[in-house]
This record gives sequence, structure tokens and C-alpha cells, in this order.
Amino acid sequence: MPSAESVTERAAALRAQIARHDRLYYELDAPEIPDAEYDRLFRELQALEAEHPALRTPDSPTQRVGGKPLPAFAPVRHVVPMLSIRTETDTESTGALNFDARVRRELKLDDTQPPVEYAAELKFDGLAINLRYERGVLALAATRGDGETGEDVTQNVRTIHEVPLTLVPQPPAGELSGRPSLFDAPSVPEIPEVLEVRGEVYMRRDRFDAFNLRADAAGERTLVNPRNAAAGSIRQLDPAIAARRPLSFFAYGLGEVQGWNVPATHAGVLDALAAFGMPVCDHRAVCSGADALAAFHARIAEARAGLPFDIDGVVYKVNSLALQQKLGFVTREPRWAVAHKYPAQEALTTVQDIEVQVGRTGKLTPVARLAPVFVGGVTVTNATLHNFFELRRKKVRKGDTVIVRRAGDVIPEVVSVLTDRREVGARPYFRPKRCPVCDSAVVREKGEVDHRCSGGLYCPAQRKQALLHFAGRRAMDIEGLGEKLVDQLVDGKLILMLPDIYKLGVLKLSELERMADKSAENLVAALEKSKTTTLGRFLFALGIRHVGEATAKDLARHLGSMDRIMDASEAELAQVPDVGPVVAASIHRFFAQSHNREVVEQLRACGIVWEEGEMQVASGPLVGKTVVLTGALPTLSRDEAKDLLEAAGAKVAGSVSKKTDFVVAGTDAGSKLIKAQELGITILDESGLLSLLGNRES
Ligand code: IVH
Repeated sequence: MPSAESVTERAAALRAQIARHDRLYYELDAPEIPDAEYDRLFRELQALEAEHPALRTPDSPTQRVGGKPLPAFAPVRHVVPMLSIRTETDTESTGALNFDARVRRELKLDDTQPPVEYAAELKFDGLAINLRYERGVLALAATRGDGETGEDVTQNVRTIHEVPLTLVPQPPAGELSGRPSLFDAPSVPEIPEVLEVRGEVYMRRDRFDAFNLRADAAGERTLVNPRNAAAGSIRQLDPAIAARRPLSFFAYGLGEVQGWNVPATHAGVLDALAAFGMPVCDHRAVCSGADALAAFHARIAEARAGLPFDIDGVVYKVNSLALQQKLGFVTREPRWAVAHKYPAQEALTTVQDIEVQVGRTGKLTPVARLAPVFVGGVTVTNATLHNFFELRRKKVRKGDTVIVRRAGDVIPEVVSVLTDRREVGARPYFRPKRCPVCDSAVVREKGEVDHRCSGGLYCPAQRKQALLHFAGRRAMDIEGLGEKLVDQLVDGKLILMLPDIYKLGVLKLSELERMADKSAENLVAALEKSKTTTLGRFLFALGIRHVGEATAKDLARHLGSMDRIMDASEAELAQVPDVGPVVAASIHRFFAQSHNREVVEQLRACGIVWEEGEMQVASGPLVGKTVVLTGALPTLSRDEAKDLLEAAGAKVAGSVSKKTDFVVAGTDAGSKLIKAQELGITILDESGLLSLLGNRES
């Protein structure tokens, strides 16, 4: 039990720290710590104060919501206060259930009554803004400030191209369907006397990255994250600087309204705002009851990493404005809305070491070994630094406190270093001149960012990766040849060259650690099975630089035989669709080396076989089409669908773009389906796909 004095001291220390971070965040737009870290401090103080109410001072940061207006901007009093929303932070569906239960309780609905209708939307991670339109013209833009009084940032907001300076007039009611008015009088377009639109100013991730690259190259200060970039730009005193920052805007609600027939629902309000020309995010839905809200939460969680901007959760609002009014507010939070957050994508941790990994093609990747930290829903212990230029740019040192980011399934990365927390004497990192695994020279080709080990398959690290790639599911598909086994085989010098894998017998294998006779037999059987393959798989398995699965298949299809591919000139190779000069040169270079040809010969001698002959180029509705698969199909596996599509002459792509011809969607299809709908791409289910495949005449 801590002493009374230490509790008092701790509370005071927390208050001082939080006050400092508030100032850095709200007034200087230069935060030093991620939100999650701030939340932790804040919660600790809240807990202390709850336990010892005597410690709660009126000026405690728990007693107000941040942000004094800067003296340099004129204060703006909000006619309708700008509120904040209550937050649910769990990762499960209980956030939606709790909210729905609360709403039903407040509305005195029992289980026999129908579900409440909600509007669900994204919680954008930017800066709240109130846009005031007077007779359709943007008259004033203000920040939230403390909710009652914000700052006049009109000049800066005007520089955001997505914010309309005038509202698009709407045809009067009755003319919405385009029918001519029954009256002779010319129709007066409907423009509200006063319309305050509330929403979020934000910065897209790609624009943020581009901005930082440029700032870094110019030796200027880089921005911490897109949210601060947005906030910092809007509260920039010089509008010319604000204008150079590429900001965006999404509307999500209303403030004061005069002279306008407000729609009856929140969803209706958003539709009307969109019709006035306001940007409204398409990722929104009307949900009936808690389960539909939870499904929205789950769907957006999956789409989150693929969105072009940051969100930190979703927002649920009671759809009926009449019910909203009935529910009202508690202190500063409406009872009719809640933010359901996702786990933070950024967190603070320390770098315990900087190591270098050697990949299949010899690429050296600096990796930060981290003190374990929970971020993006998982515990992270490593983060990539991508390459040595990136490492130098971010100036990461051993012992540093860093912000790590993990978005979706993306590999965790170090975002930036908190240099003011650096220990004195922390030494800068120097790139190794020799491969840390095999001691070969490290080289970098002109015009490339990556450094590589020049050891080729002499380097055990490259050999291991090459072997894993060779055995991979979409290459030779050798079941049971995993990382641990490959480590043993290479470290024990049982495999010096790829073909050695086929020379291992049950006897040799069962001598290995943790290798039972049965598993040795299984592996030998898997090796035997893998020997019957296709030319495309074999070519892909060789791991030639720039030759991915699709290119390997194209080469096999167009050139038909291994000998022809090995002997093709660069020009002949470049004839193959989708093979450009870089790829052609890489293939040519690979087969110009006698040891690579030797590997192919030896593998053939081991009994690896495939059918040769130029493949029939299919005809039918799928030839040359680009198809994206998403979600789980009822009967076909992802690989089976892919193989069938490719056999029918289609290309299977990983992401949806304007070039996509079809999207095949199964259950739990996420962001790809949403995007396809937005782009108006033809969407098929499995039976639709099968019927197109059935139409193929070949
Ligand atoms: S509605 C009365 N909707 O979250 C409800 N807010 O604490 C007022 N935010 O800073 C807010 N996305 O800027 C609402 N779709 C959304 C939002 C959203 C982001 C921000 C808002 C405010 C905070 C609310």
C-alpha cells in the first residue's frame, strides 16, 4: 500500500505531466507521446482521484476537456455547444451491446419492443470543425476549443479544397424527383438561412507520407502523425502555410440551423448534406439493433488498414432526431451517441537492439528488437526499419524510446524516435559492411535503396530462405518442410545446394533433433509427391529475382519449355506479356550463370517432372480479365478458385482498382467488396463464377 504522501505526490506528478502533454497536444500541436500513452496517464489519475476524492483539485485535467483558444485566433462562441462523445474501448461486440442496452433502458423499451434504429459511421481521427453557412455561403469556420468557445480558423479552412465555399442549392420539396412544378412561379432553390455543418478535418495517409518525405528532404520539421498534421495546419497562424498542407474534410452532423426543414433522421441529415455538396464518408450504414452495430464494427475493423485515412473507431448514433432529443445529455456527452474504439495502432516502447535480417535475395533489412508492447491488438517485439536509408532518416539508436505502429496485418514499423528521451551516450548505428551471416561483402546496385549480401546461395541465410521459398505451398508444395527443419538442415550442412533436399533419405532425416521416424517418412513422401509439378511452379520455386508466381506462369504458358526459357534472349523474354526489361534482364542473368543451370539439371536428375508444351490459351469471357477474390467461398478454396481463374485466362489481383473487371465475394467479404461497390464493379458469388467458368470454350 503506497503511503498517503506518495499518492499525493503521484497525483501531482500526473497532473503536471498531463498538463504538459495537453499543452503540447492542444496548443502547440506537437505531441510527444501517442494517444494510448496519454490515455494511460489520464486513467491512472482518474483512478487515483476516484479512490482518494480529496486529491481532486478543480484545476485537475480530469475536470475539463482540453484546448484553450490561442490568443492569436479570434474566439467564436458556439450557439450549439460542440460536445464530445462517450467512448467504449473494448475490442469485442460488447461496446455495441452496452450502448444499445443503455439506450433501451433510457427509452424504457422492453424486450418485446422492436430494435432501435442507429446510424453507424466512422470515427475520423482529425480535428473537429464547425462550418457556418449563411444563405449558402461559408461565413465562419471554428474549432471546437473547450466546446463552448472555439477559434476562428476560417482563413485556413477556406484553403481546403473539399470544403465547399457555397452550398449547392436543392430543388424545393416536391421537385426532388425531377418532375416539373405544377405552379407557374419560378421555383426558388432551397438554401437554409443558417446551416452549421460539423465534421472532421483530416489528412490522408498518402498525403501525410508525401508531405513528410518532402519536408525531410528540405531539412524541415516532419509531422508526427496525420491527426496532428491536420490539427497543426488548421491552427497555423499563417494561412499560406496551411494552404500547402493537403487536408480533407468529412461532415458528420449539424450545429445551429435556421430556415431549413431538418430531415427526421441522422442518416437523412447526412444524405442532405451530401446533396448540398458536403463531403460525407461512404462508409456509413443504418443498423437495426445491437447485432447490426457489432457487425458494422467488425466489418470496419477489417477494412480499417485499407482505408486511405486513419480512424480510431466507429460511432453509433440513434438515428431518429426526435429520439435523440428525448435521450438528451449527461454532462457534456449525449446519451444517444457512443464511440466504439479499436485498439490503438501506435504505442511507445524501447529499442533493445538493432539487428539485420538477410532475406532470400540477400536484401538486408534492419530490424528493431523491442521491449514487448501491445499495439494494434497484438504484442509486438520486432519492428522493421525497412532499409538503411530509412534508419538513417529516422535516426534510431539502441536504447531509444520509439513510437511503433501496427496497422492491420501490416508489418510493425518504427514511426519515430522521442529524441528528448534519449540516454546520454547512446551511439548512432552504423550499417555493416559485411553480411552478418556469411561475412560476404554488402553491395548496393545503383539506383536501388536496398543493400544486399553478395554471398548468394553461399550465404546460409539466403540458402534457408531460398529453401523455404522452394518448398512453399505455391511453389513445390513440400509439406512439412518448415522453418525449424530448414534451420537444422542448413546449419548442419546437410543441404548445401537446393537439389540436396531430394537426396535426404529417411535414415539421415531421422537422425535430426526432434524428428521421429514417422515424420521423416512423411517428409520423404512429401518430397516424392512434390516431384510431379508444373513448369510454372518449378520456375517460381527457383526464386529468380522479380519472377513472382504470375510471371512464372506467364513464362511457362508462352515459352512452353524449360530449355526455351533458359536459352531465351532478353528480347525474347520481353515478348512475354507483363515481362518488362527489368524482369527479362533478371531472368537472363540468372540463367547465364552456370551454377544456376547446374541446379536445374540436378533437380531434373532427381526426378522432377512437369508437362511441357505451350499452354492452350483459353478463350471465353474471362480471358484477359482481372479478378479479385474476397471472403470465403462456400465450396472452392482460395487457391482452387485462383487456379481455375488462371486456367481460364484471367489474372487474379490482390486489390480492387478501376482496372478490376470482376470481384468474387464470399462470406465475410470486407473492404474489397465495399470498394468494388463504390467503383461499380461487377460482383459475383461462387455460382456466378462457376457459370462464367462453365461458359469457357477451350
Ligand atoms: S459526433 C454529439 N461523429 O470525435 C456528438 N464525432 O468526442 C458529437 N469525431 O472531437 C460528435 N468522427 O471531432 C462525431 N463520425 C463522427 C466523428 C466524430 C470523429 C470526433 C469529433 C470529436 C470527437 C468526439
